[in-house]
Amino acid sequence: MIIAIDGPAASGKGTLGKRLAQHLGYAHLDTGLLYRAVARVLLDQETALTDRDAAAHAARTLDVTHLDDARLRGAEMGEAASVISAYQPVRDALLAFQRQFSRQEPGAVLDGRDIGTVVCPDADVKLFVTATPEERARRRHLEILNRGETADYETILADIRRRDERDMNRSTAPLRPAEDALTLDTTQLNAEAAFRAALDLVEAKRR
Ligand code: DC
Repeated sequence: MIIAIDGPAASGKGTLGKRLAQHLGYAHLDTGLLYRAVARVLLDQETALTDRDAAAHAARTLDVTHLDDARLRGAEMGEAASVISAYQPVRDALLAFQRQFSRQEPGAVLDGRDIGTVVCPDADVKLFVTATPEERARRRHLEILNRGETADYETILADIRRRDERDMNRSTAPLRPAEDALTLDTTQLNAEAAFRAALDLVEAKRR
């Protein structure tokens, strides 16, 4: 069983994917971490993000066993990942690993931008998780405040809009729902309700 979850930045797809995988005993891959890890290599080398060859090389030689670094999760890396993920050779280099990961028994949950459209077009369940930019910014803001850090809501909202714009309008694997994906708009749903709705869909497929 393959569950593909796509959606824009801060839509809650990662939290949902993790929870579904835990509940079902499936493997989980947050594919955004792969792009973030490629971006980290370039930033560490002080190589410009516009250097496509260096980005492709970093993707081809990426050590996928080191994706649990807290630094990968920050806003700086998300922004940088959004830039280098628009390069086709970078995407090509990361494809085989993602497909191989998806073929695990008893199942795998992958979340990202192009899982239902490109990586796993034959996934058993496809979800497109979304929420308004304002709601996503509100959640991200709250998350940062809850960690005891400070952040500006308007800056977060502007970041989210810029990332949406780039991820949706790139020529290679743009963010969009697969034709057979179910859209889950979580603007009015909390994490528990989103999980229940997704689980109902998975259970229906498993029957
Ligand atoms: O999901 P995230 O915020 O961690 O992703 C960071 C960036 O990586 C995102 O802005 C676009 C890119 N990405 C992608 O192009 N394809 C994916 N499957 C996952 C992420």
